[in-house]
Amino acid sequence: MNKCTILAIETSCDDSSIAILKDNKIINNVIWSSAEIQNEYGGVVPEIAAREHAKNIMKALRQACKDIDISEIDYIAYTNEPGLRVSLNVGEALATSLSILMNKPLIPVNHIYAHLFSFIYDNHQAIQYPMLGLVISGGHTSIFKINSPTNIQIINETKDDAVGEVFDKISRTLELGYPGGPKIDKLFDINKTTIKFLNLKPKPSDNFSFSGLKTKVLNFINQAKMKKNKIDKQVIASSFQKEIIDIVVDKIIYYLDKYQIDGLAIGGGVAANSYLESKLKSLNIKLYMPKDKVLCGDNAAMIAIYAGLLVN
Ligand code: KG4
Ligand code: ZN
Repeated sequence: MNKCTILAIETSCDDSSIAILKDNKIINNVIWSSAEIQNEYGGVVPEIAAREHAKNIMKALRQACKDIDISEIDYIAYTNEPGLRVSLNVGEALATSLSILMNKPLIPVNHIYAHLFSFIYDNHQAIQYPMLGLVISGGHTSIFKINSPTNIQIINETKDDAVGEVFDKISRTLELGYPGGPKIDKLFDINKTTIKFLNLKPKPSDNFSFSGLKTKVLNFINQAKMKKNKIDKQVIASSFQKEIIDIVVDKIIYYLDKYQIDGLAIGGGVAANSYLESKLKSLNIKLYMPKDKVLCGDNAAMIAIYAGLLVN
């Protein structure tokens, strides 16, 4: 990527984030999360997310810009899709205003493609296309065939829940807190994976579907609560984590074989999962993933990084 300074804005869900990427180095990547507030409502409420963005975005902007001279900024990038419309509008309004006031080009960025390419920051591996791509987060669970940064085909996506959403739901029912992924992951112990929730493993060629597994785990917990049985949270959390991640990895293996590809890029909040990482590493493929886990979840630096690929 050529030398330039990009200011990027991400407001697609419940994180208000602004980043500065200067000559391929992240100067600041400020993230204001409204997850705590959303948690009180049991999930993300679009109007509340938009209100929190409006409240936090200028603070994030000031913090992000504190270490640069704003006249250095060459481009304004922002997430234009997909996401909650009312939340996206806040970022788009700010990006458009800055672009007009500063007379700098505007770069709309697809949030999913930014997740896929977040690995490219500080990457020293040789990159080989085509590769598979997995976006696994609270809102998405999709597999792509990546032919180049601008030629990306979707090949599988969830018909119902996203993996992160299921982690959050199970965690809430186990009273472990929110966001659920990191809480469950922290409890994970492969020696405690003694429960099998699904009788049948899904076929790798089918579209992802996680609502069946979610229901089985929730029923298991709720029945144990009703019968006043002792609940071993670590056994349930570990067994669930193993079962859901094994489904994802089986599908990856299926597509690597189908397309005769030996590389996989991975992004999204669940990409930080320890069991997923260890399973993917054991496949002996070229694994492209962000070194810094902050780049896995929603953040504006990934928007700047992908914008950098578009302008060069
Ligand atoms: O990408 P992200 O920050 O926001 C969305 O676009 O959804 O992902 C957030 C999701 C949450 O569901 C959270 O529970 C999950 O990522 N997550 C994890 C882990 N860290 C975050 N899930 C499993 N294991 C983790 N270590
Ligand atoms: Zn995301």
